[in-house]
Amino acid sequence: MVVQLIADEIARSGGWIGFDRYMQLALYAPALGYYTAGAIKLGSSGDFVTAPELSPLFSQTLARQVGEILSVTGGDVLELGAGSGRMAADVLQALAQSGPLPARYLILEVSGELVARQRQRLRALAPHLASRVAWIDRAPSAFRGVIVCNEVLDALPVRLIRWEADGICERGVAWSGDAFAWDDRPLIEQPLLTQARRLNPPPPYLSEIGCVGPALVGTLARALERGALLLVDYGFGEREYYHPQRSQGTLMCHFRHRAHDDPFFLPGLQDITSHIDFSAVARAAIDGGVEMLGYSTQANFLINLGITDLMALTSAADAATYLPLAAQAQQLLSPAEMGELFKVIALGRGIDHSLSGFSSGDMSRLL
Ligand SMILES: C[S@@+](CC[C@H](N)C(=O)[O-])C[C@H]1O[C@@H](n2cnc3c(N)ncnc32)[C@H](O)[C@@H]1O
Repeated sequence: MVVQLIADEIARSGGWIGFDRYMQLALYAPALGYYTAGAIKLGSSGDFVTAPELSPLFSQTLARQVGEILSVTGGDVLELGAGSGRMAADVLQALAQSGPLPARYLILEVSGELVARQRQRLRALAPHLASRVAWIDRAPSAFRGVIVCNEVLDALPVRLIRWEADGICERGVAWSGDAFAWDDRPLIEQPLLTQARRLNPPPPYLSEIGCVGPALVGTLARALERGALLLVDYGFGEREYYHPQRSQGTLMCHFRHRAHDDPFFLPGLQDITSHIDFSAVARAAIDGGVEMLGYSTQANFLINLGITDLMALTSAADAATYLPLAAQAQQLLSPAEMGELFKVIALGRGIDHSLSGFSSGDMSRLL
């Protein structure tokens, strides 16, 4: 069991591991972690629903932006963390219709179990396009085209930091004999300490600092010879992320469509996530040599790219098809649902024109 595996690692590490290591093992320990063991995670029978699972409109609209970029840069598509494979199938089908269809649609996925599901799903949903899909097991060192990912960065390990009046601690995990327990230690590690001091929220304050996510984005940015990264996730810029009122951070767990804040509940059986600090993501990418192309809410991005035109392709008179689509669009766009909390950030190299997804409501200056 993953609990035993983590407890053993805590014992070997002198009684304490950082929360990032706990999260890494609980989610990705080979064959035991949440994403690497066999249960269904996504969709109505799983623990949470993502935008591509909710509606094909999401991927069809995103494909418009992907196609616009590919027509300038050429090259391939690379999707990170493809979940069930639904987005890959829908984006490929949309590009097959309106072009340009990339020669290769690469998927970088850490879970072998999900790779098997993705293969199966793609063969079922887009059999004529499945031969274009190939799986890779590490980030490429050179890439031209578009890199997309939806709700992947939020599932990557974070450090937990506690700011108190008398100093800054890192919150880690200990084993009390029969359960995990929080254990805080003074933060001395650099450059994390400098970063925590710079953020300087009013104590007492507990929050996360992303480590794996920005590093991965930096790696991808450096690999990008020409093209763009299009990243979709929930979160904010730094000022809002570390707002005085958000003093308990954004750590969140999902089990059977219930959200709660206890990462020690059923380790390996529930998802653990945190919101994205898009300023940190942008900084990591810019350090990797790419430029900011746009940053916007999911609602503005999808509307700018014509999600409503795509809906209009279905006649409202065909109520059985149209009404579910309209309800899905409402969930994708409504500020009370995914429309405002979810953001899209585009970072690229060698792209001179502005991207349609950010034609109105671009917030990149706020970063
Ligand atoms: C919350 S799911 C999202 C799945 C899908 N993108 C969607 O929107 O339905 C996170 C996905 O990211 C994958 N993942 C996690 N860490 C990864 C990494 N470092 N590189 C690539 N994929 C990763 C997980 O295995 C899983 O497929």
